[in-house]
Amino acid sequence: MATVLVIGSGIAGLVAAIHASERHDVVVVTKDVLGQSNTRYAQGGIAGVMFDDDRVEDHIRDTLLAGAGLCDEDAVRVLCTEGPARIRELIDFGVSFDRDGADFAKGLEAAHSYPRVLHAGGDATGAAIETALVTTLAARAVPVLEHTFLRDLLVDHGAVHGALLQSTERGVFTIEADHVILATGGLGQLYPYTTNPSVATGDGAAAALRAGAVLADVEFVQFHPTALTLPGSFLVSEAVRGEGAVLRDAAGRRFMVGLHPDAELAPRDVVARGIAEAMAAQGGRPVTLDATSLGAERLAARFPGIDEQIRASGVDWSTTPVEVAPAAHYWMGGIATDLDGRTSVPGLFAVGEVARTGVHGANRLASNSLLEGAVFAARAVAAIDAERGGAQDHRPVLPPHTERIDLAPSGGQSDSAPSTITPFSREALHTVMWAHAGLVRDASGLRAAKQTLDGWARSTASSASAAESTRAAEDANLLLLARSVVAAALHRTESRGAHARDDFPLIDAAQAQPVAVSSAPVPHPTLPEDHPLVNGTVLAPC
Ligand code: SIN
Repeated sequence: MATVLVIGSGIAGLVAAIHASERHDVVVVTKDVLGQSNTRYAQGGIAGVMFDDDRVEDHIRDTLLAGAGLCDEDAVRVLCTEGPARIRELIDFGVSFDRDGADFAKGLEAAHSYPRVLHAGGDATGAAIETALVTTLAARAVPVLEHTFLRDLLVDHGAVHGALLQSTERGVFTIEADHVILATGGLGQLYPYTTNPSVATGDGAAAALRAGAVLADVEFVQFHPTALTLPGSFLVSEAVRGEGAVLRDAAGRRFMVGLHPDAELAPRDVVARGIAEAMAAQGGRPVTLDATSLGAERLAARFPGIDEQIRASGVDWSTTPVEVAPAAHYWMGGIATDLDGRTSVPGLFAVGEVARTGVHGANRLASNSLLEGAVFAARAVAAIDAERGGAQDHRPVLPPHTERIDLAPSGGQSDSAPSTITPFSREALHTVMWAHAGLVRDASGLRAAKQTLDGWARSTASSASAAESTRAAEDANLLLLARSVVAAALHRTESRGAHARDDFPLIDAAQAQPVAVSSAPVPHPTLPEDHPLVNGTVLAPC
C-alpha cells in the first residue's frame, strides 16, 4: 500500500482517486470545491466506440487526422481501445447517458466519421459525470481537502515526494506522498476569452516545470469556435452544429461552405480561424450561429443548459441567430507523460488536460478529452500498482527526435535594451496573449510578446514574497506558462493544427515532432527557498 496524493478533481483526478482508493491511502486536494472543474462544464459529451457499426480503427483514424500529424499513435491506440471500458465504468459509477429507445443517443461532432459522442442531460455531460464521480468518491470515504491551492511540488534528489499547499484554514503546509498525481487541468485563464472556469490557471503544469518536469506541445491551444459573446464566454457546444445549426456572417452568408468540404463541421481550428477571418472582414463584429432550423422544442430538449443561457441573455435562438466568437477552450500541450501518466520526474504522474500524452497532437478531436482523463487516470494507478510490485521498465515520455527549448527560470538576461513596459497585471497578460499568441501568430508579434513576458518575469521574480496571495501565485504560474507557449510558438515555424502562423502558413513535414520545454528546477517565485515550511511540517491526511 502506498500514499497517493491526487491534486485536482475533474474526471481525471476523480477516476484516479477512485481507482487508487482500492489499494492505497489517498488524499484528494482541490483548489475550489470538489465538483468545480473544467469537466463540470463539458457539454458535447464523451467519444468512444459504443455502437456495433462503429469501429475502433475509425476512431483512431479520426483522432490522428484531427491531430495534424503530431499525435503519438500508440497513445491514440490506447485511448480508443480502452475508452469503451472506461465509459462502461462511468456508467457503473452512476452516469446515465441519454438514450434513444434502447440504445444510447448518438451525438455527432466535428471531424468524427461516426456519431459516437455519448451525452447526458442533453448538454450537461460533464456535470453528470462529475456528480457521479463525486458521489462514488464520497462512498469510499476518501479524504478531500477543498479550497486548497498547490503552491509547489516537494522535490528531493530529483524525485517528487509530496506537495506544498495553502489554504485559508491551514495556511501553508505540506503533504508527503509516495506518488503525486497531478490532474489540475488547463490554462484557459491565459486568455481574456475562455470557456474555462476561473480555476484554470495552469498551476499543476507550472509547478511541474519548476520541479524539473518536461512539458511538450505547449504551443497548441485550442480555441472553441462558438462561445457566446457575453462575459464568461459561455460555450455553445459543437453538438449544436452537429444537429444542423450553421454559421453566418453579417450578410447572412454561410462563410464556412467555401472554406472546407465539411463546412461548419470542419476540424475545430479550421472553423475557429474561419470565424476570426469573417469577423475581421466585418470590422470585428461577431458572426452568428443560426440554429433556427432546429425549432424551439428540439433546442430546449437537446440543449437545455445552452437554451437557458441564451434565453437569459434575451435572445430567442429558435427564431434569431445568436452572436458567437472563438474563445480559448483546451490545451493540447502539458506535462509530457508516457502511456501510463508517468512524467519525466520520478514520483510525479500527470493525467487529464494537464498532461501531454500525445493523443491530441496539434488539435484535439471533439469529446476526446473526457475520454483521455478517464483512460489515462486508470492507467496511472495501474502503473503505480505495477511499480509497487517491482516493475521497472517504461518508455521515455517523448520520442528521441523531440526538439528542446530551455526556459531561463525567471526571464533570463535581457537580450535587448530595457524598454518601458506596461506593469504586469492579469489583464495586461491577457492583452499580450490574445494579440500575439492567440488564433493566428507571427514572428514579430511573438518576439514582442517574449520581450514583454520576460521583462515581467524579471521584475516579478525580484519582488516575490511568501505572504503573497494565491492570486499572485496563479499570476506567476500563468506568466511562466505564457513564456513557455510563446517560446514554443516562436520555435515552430509552420502552421499545424491549432498553431497558425501568418508568416509560415503551410505545414512543414520536417517539423512533425513535438517541441519540449524545460527549465532548471526552481522554487516557487513567491516562496523563498528558506521558507520554514518547505522542509518542515508534514500534515497527516485528515
Ligand atoms: C463542445 O461541446 O463543443 C465541446 C466538446 C469538447 O470540447 O470536446
